[in-house]
Amino acid sequence: MDTNIYTKKDLKLAAKDINDGQLVSFPTETVYGLGADATNEKAVKAVYAAKGRPSDNPLIVHVDGPDMVKQYAQPLSKEAQSLLDTFWPGPLTIIFKLKPDVLSKAVTGGLDTAAFRNPNNDVTLSLIREAGVPIVGPSANTSGKPSPTKAEHVYHDLKGKIAGILDDGESKYGVESTVLDMSTDKPAILRPGAITAEQISKVIHKPVLDQRTKVADDQVPKAPGMKYKHYAPNAQVYIVDDEDEWQEAVDWAAKQDHPVGIMADNHNINGYDWSDNVETFSLGDNVNSASHLLFAGLRHFDNEPEVKSILTQAFSSDGIGEAYMNRLNKSAGQVHFHLR
Ligand code: TXA
Ligand code: MG
Repeated sequence: MDTNIYTKKDLKLAAKDINDGQLVSFPTETVYGLGADATNEKAVKAVYAAKGRPSDNPLIVHVDGPDMVKQYAQPLSKEAQSLLDTFWPGPLTIIFKLKPDVLSKAVTGGLDTAAFRNPNNDVTLSLIREAGVPIVGPSANTSGKPSPTKAEHVYHDLKGKIAGILDDGESKYGVESTVLDMSTDKPAILRPGAITAEQISKVIHKPVLDQRTKVADDQVPKAPGMKYKHYAPNAQVYIVDDEDEWQEAVDWAAKQDHPVGIMADNHNINGYDWSDNVETFSLGDNVNSASHLLFAGLRHFDNEPEVKSILTQAFSSDGIGEAYMNRLNKSAGQVHFHLR
């Protein structure tokens, strides 16, 4: 099939594809999603096939606002309502208990809960409204690869497999939404994102188990997706944890018999005398730009198969830094430069 590149003037065409049970990639403020009508089981199954995604890994249901959630979820608690009031539309996905038999097993992976997200992107909100149905959407990458932050990334992975890509430029944050489990009385973050445990806790006046405290607590269900390989480029990624490791990185890179990729901030890229076999990719000036550019950088080096190692800068785990480090750790398979 030919994959159409749509822009917002083609919204009706994209919505028609969704209503016809076709797959359309949609833009969000985090990453691009791979959309299908959440109420059409056959279309939802096609999402797993296009991505090569394991079928026990449930999908996020994208809605145009809280009212659409209420059709599917059990009555929301006061805390849940205040989260929607505060953070929606935005990069916070919330897991709620479902009414019985309202969404197919293909969406939920057989769980009695589902993840809901109200993305902060006008084109996609209009798409959901125009289609009149919630839209499931995992990130629109081949399973295991870095998530797409531009329409080109989606086209690279899924051309010929989906009906269209709705192009709305680069995703603002570049890392996927925070996933918060509100289906039990112990709210827990299953995946860190731009909205932090601290911000959530302030709104619900309750402690929120975060990534680190959660591991110690067996009671908390994990996101099924967490056990799978993620964000892995073809080259080995090494995490450079400390500022004072960069001179050693320069010396190490110079000794390699293959091209080496460097992903670091402008300060580090401009501050050293890199050897000729080094190719640099700037992560900008701070953790916000680094989060925005991380997946694009990993994909950039995937287009250069001779690059066998990518040294990537760590940032401190505050704010969106926790999400950045979570994704970087996964793409590196926890391999650190100082432990190489
Ligand atoms: O920013 C985002 O969230 C992007 C954009 C497109 O919205 N979407 C995204 O979807 O990252 P995906 O499918 O790549 O990640 C969804 C995560 C997975 O780790 C999945 O296991 C978890 O959410 N999840 C979905 N439903 C769940 C449920 N009912 N219980 C626990 N985890 C769930
Ligand atoms: Mg994903």
